[in-house]
Amino acid sequence: MRTPIVAGNWKMNLGMDEAVQLAQDIADGAPENGVKLIVAPVSVHLASVTEALATSPVLLSSQNMHWADSGAYTGEVSGPMLRELAVRYVILGHSERRQYFGESDEEINRKVLSALDQELRPIVCFGESLSDREAKRTEAKVEFQVRAALAGLSAEQAQKVILAYEPIWAIGTGKTASPQQAQQVHRFLRGVLKERFDVETAQTVPILYGGSVKPHNFDTLITQDDIDGGLVGGASLKADSFLELARIAGNI
Ligand code: PGA
Repeated sequence: MRTPIVAGNWKMNLGMDEAVQLAQDIADGAPENGVKLIVAPVSVHLASVTEALATSPVLLSSQNMHWADSGAYTGEVSGPMLRELAVRYVILGHSERRQYFGESDEEINRKVLSALDQELRPIVCFGESLSDREAKRTEAKVEFQVRAALAGLSAEQAQKVILAYEPIWAIGTGKTASPQQAQQVHRFLRGVLKERFDVETAQTVPILYGGSVKPHNFDTLITQDDIDGGLVGGASLKADSFLELARIAGNI
């Protein structure tokens, strides 16, 4: 059985005090139901949020990292720097980074390899655009992205990765993939993992769904066989809705 995960991607939101308050409220209200809770604040708030979460089981993620350990990369943050702040996860390849910052599949792969070297668990995002879906290219697109992101990994390394299927047309739009649409892609991806690695890896790797996840639509998603949790943007910015998602994930 895979542990359910609810991960909050705060994106470029919240001032320092708001971020600390939200972290505290989540830590205070986190249900003890076996669901793994992860929050990803902006990097300048990681140190303060780490403190706010110090005695709680809620885990910390970065929203990005550079692949090099240090060097002349103005504006970037490295894996070892994140480790110093007790960060355990790193979101990589989010569609906003691909779209607005031109991140390529090859760069994402370098970051995945570097994160694993630093013992950070990558949360690797991928998903099709609306035109991909309309042209029936969804499976080809996600397979390409996942294979590229995981290039050069051993099965043992792949088992440390969390995948997050986020159809671009569903992010921040209020349109969610139907549970059947999402399940179909998740099931397909397990097949890709089995082919690329082995059965154990295919069964071990958690595959989260992301894209307008809200308390009112989460229960029908999380009850699908191959959906192991959610990567949540908007609904992760309020403790009430985030904690509600945590409770729903614990009820399956
Ligand atoms: P959303 O964002 O829940 O606001 O759609 C999800 C994401 O981008 O991870």
